[in-house]
Amino acid sequence: MITEELMNDWGGETLMVNRHESSGAFIIVAIHSTKSGPAAGGVRMKKYDGLDQAVEDVLKLSSAMTYKFATANMNWGGGKSVISIPHNLGPYQRTELLHDFGEILKTFDGSYYVGPDVGTSSEDMDVIFQTGAPYVFSRTKASGGAGSSANPTAYGVFCAIQTTCKRLFGTKNLNDRTVLVQGAGNVGGLLMNSLRDAGAHVLFSETSPKLVEKHIDIGYRYIPDEAVFSTKCDVFSPCAMGGVLNKHSIPLLSCKGVVGAANNQLAHRSDAELLEENNILYAPDYIVSLGGAIGITAIEGEGMTFEQSRDLIKSSIQETLELIYEMSDKDSLPVLDAADKIVEQRVKRRPLMIDTHD
Ligand code: PHE
Repeated sequence: MITEELMNDWGGETLMVNRHESSGAFIIVAIHSTKSGPAAGGVRMKKYDGLDQAVEDVLKLSSAMTYKFATANMNWGGGKSVISIPHNLGPYQRTELLHDFGEILKTFDGSYYVGPDVGTSSEDMDVIFQTGAPYVFSRTKASGGAGSSANPTAYGVFCAIQTTCKRLFGTKNLNDRTVLVQGAGNVGGLLMNSLRDAGAHVLFSETSPKLVEKHIDIGYRYIPDEAVFSTKCDVFSPCAMGGVLNKHSIPLLSCKGVVGAANNQLAHRSDAELLEENNILYAPDYIVSLGGAIGITAIEGEGMTFEQSRDLIKSSIQETLELIYEMSDKDSLPVLDAADKIVEQRVKRRPLMIDTHD
């Protein structure tokens, strides 16, 4: 239920819930912060167990976006959308829904920019853009956008794994390290390739039989679902859905570090403490996964070149993680608290624009 407590705990600015009559979907937009600049963040499309769950998800996801942009010191704020669908939609209904989403996006008048997320793609961004809403990131290259955000996301996770390994093992060289990637989808698949190229042993788990077959054929070792948490590895990298780190899975983990692309990996904040108690270094998910949003926004929203966007992803992730790990050691702070402390200081305040015209 949307309560005062829920909204105050979230600490954001605007929550909009639209009932989409013809499809039975709910379109929910959460603007967490426009303090540093316009909000940006993807639109997630999936089935939820009710509206409450969808609202909770969008609130958490929107604040993570504020933290991602602050980590990279960018003049952008955080927002997110969720389209909670009652069942899988046919192509006609889906297009209509995305067009209506575009109309809603226009009403935000540039204070919120959307991009792809779980359940949506660059092709969907093209469809939203057809409505004339200019506030759409990550359209296909064919229609003038920067394309999918999977590539910069995977690059960022790779950088984060390097820095975390340096902390754990004294070297960022990944040769002979064992990394278990959970989810061999767009991001996970690209990440597995870069890990292999860097000399790591790559294990993976995946629920889609087609993707399992594809990656076994490439030569990666498949770990069945029931063994995904307990399999021994140096780094466990959750790149599928959120909530995988919880009181049931954490005691099973047999890794030294967790560094993955999935948003909202911790079921509860207290699960970060449980990881520490189990001697597992947790790289905060909003930092590890910032590559997609930061890379695309840098190119499309700031006019950076591809190389500049890569440098920004790498330096934001590696330098910030190093600072966090150092602070956590020095001040005996849990990693997540150190991260929030450092990143919250970076949420810039835009200077007030005072209209001096008569
Ligand atoms: N899915 C991205 C994320 O969670 C959102 C995004 C992609 C935002 C591309 C802008 C551009 O970070």
